[in-house]
Amino acid sequence: MTIEKKKLPAILGGLPSVTLSHDVSNKWPLLTDDDENGVLQIMRDGNISTHPIIRELEKVYAELTGQSYSLAHNNGTSALLAAFHSIGLKPGDEVLVPSATFWASILPMLWVGAVPVFCESESERMGIDPIDLEKKITPRTRAIVVVHLWGLPSKMTEIFDIAKKYDLKIIEDASHTHGAYWRDRPCGSLGDISIFSLQGDKLAPAGEGGILLCNKYEYYEKAVCLGDITRIIELQTPARRFAATSYGIKTRIAPISAAIGCNQLKNLNDHNKQRGQNIKYLSNKLEKLGFHTFLPPDHIKRVYFEYLIRYDETKYPLPIGLLAEALSKEGCQVAAPRYPLVHQQPFFTEGIFKDILRLPPECQLPEYETCSLPFTETANNSLLKLPSFPGPDNGILEQYAHAFEKVMKYSYEIVDRINESN
Ligand SMILES: Cc1ncc(COP(=O)(O)O)c(C=O)c1O
Repeated sequence: MTIEKKKLPAILGGLPSVTLSHDVSNKWPLLTDDDENGVLQIMRDGNISTHPIIRELEKVYAELTGQSYSLAHNNGTSALLAAFHSIGLKPGDEVLVPSATFWASILPMLWVGAVPVFCESESERMGIDPIDLEKKITPRTRAIVVVHLWGLPSKMTEIFDIAKKYDLKIIEDASHTHGAYWRDRPCGSLGDISIFSLQGDKLAPAGEGGILLCNKYEYYEKAVCLGDITRIIELQTPARRFAATSYGIKTRIAPISAAIGCNQLKNLNDHNKQRGQNIKYLSNKLEKLGFHTFLPPDHIKRVYFEYLIRYDETKYPLPIGLLAEALSKEGCQVAAPRYPLVHQQPFFTEGIFKDILRLPPECQLPEYETCSLPFTETANNSLLKLPSFPGPDNGILEQYAHAFEKVMKYSYEIVDRINESN
């Protein structure tokens, strides 16, 4: 191969830029002897259902967020269900939600009869759009779900103002923001009730697990009664009478997961630092090429659950699909965002949600079949997901930067070649 050919992008017959393995830089979760010893300790102690490590996990999350009450769950989904139940949502109550999130930020509310109302996401941080959500408030609106998507805290100043003005509760889904801060306040402390998922991909994973946090005893007590049979018996209030039944489900975390969750939280800052360093390094290079990498404003400390970048295909010759194909040929791992938009899913568009949300016929429901969020739909199609590089940089970041530079430099040639071959 001639030197000239070597310089070409792989899609035009050149050599791929990314030759180093992703195994080092993109291995996650990072489990060590400490995790293993934590798990072994539970097994040796023999209490594999209610071990005190669960309380330890709750304590460290209460410390992280400064919240008075912390209740561990078997996953983030059940912590969200408990949150919707605990703020007292009733059948027919409406909750404003983003569509750009994992389904679990929304669907558990159907089990308490609450109706999700989908809102646009804003362009700066991809969180729920305060302007659109205010337009969608009706006399039935009771709450807002805030999700700090991919690790970037939402526009809380505006959201707090609206919540106060219309007397709405905030459920904060902080599943992507372990260790992030909004104006010196930790994510996980910004809602009337806040939750974290500790699922295996998360920034402080436990395998499966969730945490519910709040400052109001009333909410905590309701969450306990819903599904934590061990705790109901300990309540010093009349709610103790539910100790023989709960409210019908069981949401306790497994101690083995709690042990991993505790240990991973100890490493959270170091892990976040490594991801942050790697991603900022690459982001600075990609910004120069015209990509938007969601670097945070000064008053926000973001983290990187996932690394998403925005490409405005109207400004460049390459359509985004072809860009992704060319980068893949370079050896880059590029993909569409991990979650499809929730409002477009058959569960809503085909009316299946009604099987769960059994509201009387006179209850008005949003028209999910025709629900359209034009900004969010377009914005979602302009995103590319890259690896979040949680491990040490083995030189792969420079190779990624080179791959992007090469593809952007030769974008006219790539388009011409593809047109010729069609
Ligand atoms: C934003 C968000 N909310 C909620 C959840 C649900 O958590 P879990 O998987 O622990 O049930 C997840 C992910 O898994 C998530 O990404």
